Amino acid sequence: MSKALNGIRILDMTHVQAGPTSSQLLGFMGADVIKLESPFGDATRKQLRDVPGADSLYFTMLNCNKRSITVNLKNERGKEVFTRLVQECDVLMENFGPGVLDRLGFGWERVHEINPRMVMASIKGFGTEGPYAAFKAYENIAQAMGGSMSTTGMFDGSPVVTGAQIGDSGTGVHLALGILAALLHREQTGKGQYVECAMMDCVMNLVRVKWRDHQRITRGPLAEYSIQEFDDFTPRAGNDSGGGQLGNCIHCKPGGINDYLYIVVQEHVWEALATRVGGEELVNDPRFADITVRRKNQGAMWDILNDFASRYTKRELMAILNELNVPCGPVMSTADLADDDHVRGREMYVELDHPERGPYWNLGCPIKLSDSPAVITRSPLLGEHTDDILGDVLGYGGDEIAEMKEAGAFTFKR
Ligand SMILES: CC(C)(COP(=O)(O)OP(=O)(O)OC[C@H]1O[C@@H](n2cnc3c(N)ncnc32)[C@H](O)[C@@H]1OP(=O)(O)O)[C@@H](O)C(=O)NCCC(=O)NCCS
Repeated sequence: MSKALNGIRILDMTHVQAGPTSSQLLGFMGADVIKLESPFGDATRKQLRDVPGADSLYFTMLNCNKRSITVNLKNERGKEVFTRLVQECDVLMENFGPGVLDRLGFGWERVHEINPRMVMASIKGFGTEGPYAAFKAYENIAQAMGGSMSTTGMFDGSPVVTGAQIGDSGTGVHLALGILAALLHREQTGKGQYVECAMMDCVMNLVRVKWRDHQRITRGPLAEYSIQEFDDFTPRAGNDSGGGQLGNCIHCKPGGINDYLYIVVQEHVWEALATRVGGEELVNDPRFADITVRRKNQGAMWDILNDFASRYTKRELMAILNELNVPCGPVMSTADLADDDHVRGREMYVELDHPERGPYWNLGCPIKLSDSPAVITRSPLLGEHTDDILGDVLGYGGDEIAEMKEAGAFTFKR
């Protein structure tokens, strides 16, 4: 079956998490992703290793559906190979620190000169211009600076980092979208362009609704929050729903740290929910008669719902509430998810085989295309496809490859 991005060749210089998750998505959709690494390899290959000598799960999780070539970009013959790759590929992706590619002699202007059709896509912490442009960035720095940490956590607790990697993987998703737009634009113009995503901007985009609240505060307290004292910034919201409906986590049987169900008490499901939880008495309780008073008295409402929840496990309660059409979802641990039929059925947790680590589990592709579904393939070993790529993509012969190897094009001299 043909793949959606068949024929698109990506020169992937990304490393760590933000860039690799982005090129992996494009690989899932069928692009030929050539991961170009320094002879040391992506640092994550060796980070948080669980099997001695094998590529770490940190690396294998983020680099499926790619081929690997090592090139020493500080070597003249290595630069020649790189220039040929720029000529042959459609997209160049990178997330180096500020100025790295310019120092190597391959900034956007040079790349555009070598191949005017090439789309070049970069992730930077803060973009290429502005007071923060020269700073490096990692996930939690982006969460801190993009407004996520200050709005996450309990009202009176410290700022909290979210488990969702919105600074890295979130920026990667934005970048993939920008690349596809630039490729479509190239269809019209015949020219590539430069796509840049700053992690701070992307986090701001992902906390977009908090900006709704930032401006609403100037007009008075926000009734849906369970706290009612506001400063001039959007506060941490605990587990409040953050939308027009009331929502929160309720604690279920047997009371463990993940035995919670998140429930949204939509206005139009209240009567059915109240009937099930407290019968006629609760339905007619004036404290909860409509959304306005229910917001004011939400503390009492959550006490009643928590008391009800304590009689059921999160799965039992999910079944009971779904019968009533009440939106809800159990808080799933990674163990719950790894064992979940729905997750397995959607191929979101798949078993792969790796030459160094044997069978292992990887997450699948969350984008489901009806005519070209993703087939997940394991991450490449360092330089596993160097010779193939030099031959198939660039047309070098065996003698030439041997001579370039001798000249240090693919290794660092010891
Ligand atoms: C993630 C980050 C902080 C890591 O910083 P770092 O480990 O110091 O790495 P840098 O990207 O700054 O530098 C990479 C170095 O490897 C060198 N290098 C990379 N590929 C090479 C190759 N194929 N051959 C030779 N050298 C290579 C670069 O030239 C550079 O060396 P230099 O400092 O002498 O110029 C930084 O890359 C960054 O801020 N990236 C942008 C934001 C980002 O994506 N952050 C999220 C990561 S999940």
